[in-house]
Amino acid sequence: MISHLEKESGMTNENLIFHQLFEAESSTYTYLLADRVSRDAILIDSVIETVDRDLKLIQELDVNLKYVLDTHIHADHVTGAGEIRSRIPGAQIGVPKTARLICADVHLSDGDTLAFGRFELKVLETPGHTDASVSFLCGDMVFTGDALLIRGTGRTDFQSGSSADLFDSVTSKLFSLPPQTKVYPAHDYKGFTSSTIEMEKLHNPRLGGGRSKEDFVKIMSELKLAYPKKIDIALPANQACGLPGSRQGV
Ligand SMILES: [Fe+2]
Repeated sequence: MISHLEKESGMTNENLIFHQLFEAESSTYTYLLADRVSRDAILIDSVIETVDRDLKLIQELDVNLKYVLDTHIHADHVTGAGEIRSRIPGAQIGVPKTARLICADVHLSDGDTLAFGRFELKVLETPGHTDASVSFLCGDMVFTGDALLIRGTGRTDFQSGSSADLFDSVTSKLFSLPPQTKVYPAHDYKGFTSSTIEMEKLHNPRLGGGRSKEDFVKIMSELKLAYPKKIDIALPANQACGLPGSRQGV
């Protein structure tokens, strides 16, 4: 299927370098996207433990990292963004504007676009997992962070999360994308790598199949999830873009 972006720009996915990378301890996906011709690149949701792997891949591909982005302030792992910025001159850290991180270079709001070569990412604000969560749309791919997972969603019980807001974000912003849009989440715990908007609308047990907001809020309130193991380390570190020595706070 030819996406809207491809029709407008004459781009095809053959011109896009795309790597989905995995960090096993936190089950996090990191995504590298680059323009095959200009070599400009973007990294989404890096993890501190796998920075060396990501930098080696960036070097091997011979791409220029313009942005290292986080979809939200993660509670389950420390971001690699600060370390990567310190090792790649010119790379800029982008985070949701509503996270108010002074360590970041780019503060992302709904509708903003980030260009890399002839491609661009469009920012979709999708709060609910936290109050400062975004997704990134690139042609027929959407990177959903912890807003929409494959047959699941992010939790909503800390970091000013809101089940009602998450329901609205997913059903109004993400489910209105073309059905064949590929969904790439920040995590998967069951071995899935991607989904589509159509499949999540049909089969997501929490908010697919036409479930109501009331159903969703009730499901989320009854999850009884464990306290995240790394939250007490990850949140303060991520308030400083993952670098304890860097500018911290809001
Ligand atoms: Fe998260």
